[in-house]
Amino acid sequence: MRSGLKVVLVAAVGENGIIGRDGQLPWRLKSDLQHFKKVTLNRPVIMGRKTFESLPKPLKNRTNIVLTRDLGLVAPGCVLATSMDAAFGFAREDAQQRGVDEVMIIGGSDIFTDTMAVADRLEITRVHAAPEGDVRFPAIDPTVWRESYRQWRPRGPDDDTDFTILTYERAG
Ligand SMILES: NC(=O)c1ccc[n+]([C@@H]2O[C@H](COP(=O)([O-])OP(=O)(O)OC[C@H]3O[C@@H](n4cnc5c(N)ncnc54)[C@H](OP(=O)(O)O)[C@@H]3O)[C@@H](O)[C@H]2O)c1
Repeated sequence: MRSGLKVVLVAAVGENGIIGRDGQLPWRLKSDLQHFKKVTLNRPVIMGRKTFESLPKPLKNRTNIVLTRDLGLVAPGCVLATSMDAAFGFAREDAQQRGVDEVMIIGGSDIFTDTMAVADRLEITRVHAAPEGDVRFPAIDPTVWRESYRQWRPRGPDDDTDFTILTYERAG
């Protein structure tokens, strides 16, 4: 599916596993959006159609690959993919052109679940809140994933709460 391409999942996850509510993020965390930008910049990003619709516009300086089964979807500035294999194909080509070796998977729920088994790294923002919501991140199995980085970030003026940036690599 992905030969030579590292697959990185990037998500902000509440203490209760929640990542979204009513098609949006369940918190305001400007500092984490800056972190998200830094982690994903100049790389291909793969997202589901609903995540795409949650954005005000396509993410700048990244190739936005949007998964949908709707052949009529109009998404200017994005690459549409009707299967995960097709999305990885576009990502591989784009990464080569950019001279990078990774694709960033940026949600939502099914996309994270479908790619966890082939992921090389998880870039998780653990949001120190437990909001109500309707979309979750899959469980991070401690026998599969080893924490390799952790940084606590205090709440900034445009943040609802503190958060912790975590990187997980494959344990074996
Ligand atoms: N906290 C975070 O880090 C984070 C990250 C991302 C998203 N979110 C939140 O999560 C919510 C959106 O996520 P979601 O899970 O509801 O939806 P989503 O994964 O963004 O989008 C689901 C849609 O993607 C398409 N799709 C999924 N798998 C596909 C496949 N294998 N082949 C082709 N198309 C496929 C389908 O689109 P069609 O229906 O068009 O066929 C499906 O309805 C929002 O609340 C958003 O704010 C949070």
